[in-house]
Amino acid sequence: MNVLVVGGGAREHVLVWKIAQSPRVDKVFVAPGNAGTALMAENLEVSPVDFEALGRIAKDRDIALVVVGPEVPLSLGIVDYFDGLGISVFGPTRAASRIESSKVFARDLMRKYGIACPEGGVFSSYPEAREYLRQRRLPVVIKADGLAAGKGTVIASSMAEAEKALGDIMEAKVFGAAGDQVLIDEYLTGFEVSLLAFTDGKTVVPMIPACDYKKVGDGDKGLNTGGMGSYSPPGFFPPELVDKAVNAVLLPAVQAMADEGTPYRGVLYAGLMVVDSELVVIEFNARFGDPETQVILPLLKTDLTDIFMSVVRGNLDQLKIEWDRGACVGVVMASGGYPGSYETGFPISGLHDVDRDALVFHAGTKMGAGGEIYTGGGRVLTVVSRGGDLTEAREKVYRNISAVSFEGCHYRKDIALRETN
Ligand code: AMP
Ligand code: GLY
Repeated sequence: MNVLVVGGGAREHVLVWKIAQSPRVDKVFVAPGNAGTALMAENLEVSPVDFEALGRIAKDRDIALVVVGPEVPLSLGIVDYFDGLGISVFGPTRAASRIESSKVFARDLMRKYGIACPEGGVFSSYPEAREYLRQRRLPVVIKADGLAAGKGTVIASSMAEAEKALGDIMEAKVFGAAGDQVLIDEYLTGFEVSLLAFTDGKTVVPMIPACDYKKVGDGDKGLNTGGMGSYSPPGFFPPELVDKAVNAVLLPAVQAMADEGTPYRGVLYAGLMVVDSELVVIEFNARFGDPETQVILPLLKTDLTDIFMSVVRGNLDQLKIEWDRGACVGVVMASGGYPGSYETGFPISGLHDVDRDALVFHAGTKMGAGGEIYTGGGRVLTVVSRGGDLTEAREKVYRNISAVSFEGCHYRKDIALRETN
């Protein structure tokens, strides 16, 4: 069968790589993809939110399955669109993806169904939000309700910073209508983990847990980014905690969505804080995480296409999903200046000098006429290595990444370091 992957980052590259390994798959298309996906699939110059163009392509190329990477097309109803065309599509509907696209929706759901979440308030009035804020302890967390490309959450350590964030979101509307409502939350301290699960709306199968690193600099210093690295599995989140999270968070959330009349199918991603071995939900996402997916899927033994089809058909309970016992570390190479302004168009060298078993997933890359590869975005590559444990995977990934370079490139040196000390 032919498969279409929607999106163009390193998450979509790993999806394409894994899907292409399936003996059931004849050809993989990706819209729009990047220089890395072009090496193993056919890139199509179509925007992930141009549903009509995607639908035409899906018919023309005899696509039997569409897999959606990013949140924006999900929140705009890409799954409803392909359902309407009668083409199998992996992901939640527009209504179900509200679990990510509206933090207020997610919070109300958690409160109604007894899923542990931070203490806080939801506001649609700026004066009321400001009044509540002034009574809160610092640091305090302020979140815009809607999608804001990962920038809608501010952790403020002074009241001036908190009031500015609230004003920016609710009054200046820096995120547009995404800031019509806000959450003002208590600040939690603990270990943060991403637990993703496949679900067909009834059965929930967790993936291997993973951790991501959002700050640009070592030691979690500097500005937030789209993710600078990840590793799997975290030692502080053993299988007992995975089971606990499935029973206390993921299954109740999937059941709640069904009870609300918006059954949830696809990947459900729980961002969890482990606070003294209690689990608190920081956020839900309606999709695979980036850069978590780059360190999760290389450990998957089962055919990913079989999993997607079981989810679409609603018989996930009949599939056994198996994982490697090893560990995986991924390090993101970014352009000089990222997450601020940066230049692109620099040639990338050393892509063929990494170990045979190293994985290099592309994000912002472009291919020249002669097949040479150039930088084309802020986050450029995720270099991933597998190992028997995190110490080995970490040692391998840093050895491999030192072979790859481009002008101005930078990357964090401390990914998974805390697990090896
Ligand atoms: P979110 O926009 O909800 O994904 O939050 C972005 C990041 O902010 C999370 O990954 C956490 O690192 C941090 N964060 C969000 N909410 C809280 C909270 N209540 N306490 C501490 N950290 C938080
Ligand atoms: N790694 C965070 C996310 O994918 O939203």
